Amino acid sequence: MAWKWHAPLEGKGLTFSILTALAILVGGMIELIPPYFLQGTIDPIPGVQPYTALELEGRDIYIREGCVNCHSQMIRPFKTETDRYGQYTLPGEGVYERPFLYGSRRTGPDLSRVGGKYPNSWHWIHFRNPREIEPRSNMPPYEFLSRSELDLSLTQRKLEVLASLGHPYTEAQIEGAVADASAQAAQVAAALEADGQKLGELERRSETIALIAYLQRLGRDLAQSPPAVASAGAAQ
Ligand code: HEC
Repeated sequence: MAWKWHAPLEGKGLTFSILTALAILVGGMIELIPPYFLQGTIDPIPGVQPYTALELEGRDIYIREGCVNCHSQMIRPFKTETDRYGQYTLPGEGVYERPFLYGSRRTGPDLSRVGGKYPNSWHWIHFRNPREIEPRSNMPPYEFLSRSELDLSLTQRKLEVLASLGHPYTEAQIEGAVADASAQAAQVAAALEADGQKLGELERRSETIALIAYLQRLGRDLAQSPPAVASAGAAQ
């Protein structure tokens, strides 16, 4: 039998384990460290903008309510997924996602391109009781959100913090965060009323309104950017 140089090593369990661990660690570092120093490893996508103040609040409600436990926001590059959800998720789309909400379970469908798929009133009814829209749905009702007033006391601070991390919010956007959020909420509420929903004073300023604004934004930036960019990503 030919002499194998590694045979003596394999006889020494502990030494072999340590050397194996070292080899994996060094390999891992060689793979992981360079991207931190290479500029342009992520293709910037023109048109990708940070969330508005109201959408940001909606996103925080999405996080608080644990929607991410049932919904992913990550379309994988498989035909079955792209046929159903559209362009698969590109890294550059997530530059303003803090924290990421990729998720790891899909009890319900992926939501990363749900913006504009349904009118606001669809979401309003669906949050009140998903069974009104889809009788077999096991999504919990979130009717209570429409009775909970949206808290804007930290909105300006949230924008400030994100700006300090590099999100391109202007001074005016930060100063006007609460006013902007209220104005956008009024728009969402007006669209709901135009669509036949009857909203009380509290409902017009409720957390559901912010959540709808957030959902309606998902995937829209990419849809509005030139198609050449999206297909350049798809070719990679
Ligand atoms: C227990 C799991 C579960 C949780 C938690 C959950 N959902 Fe769902 N969701 C579903 C299922 C299942 C469906 C598909 C049936 C339906 O439309 O109700 C769905 C559908 C949806 C849809 C429609 C998607 C489409 O493309 O048709 C939206 C939007 C949505 N959920 C948003 C939310 C939000 C926002 C939250 C958190 C406030 C949430 N869901 C929490 C299970 C869940």
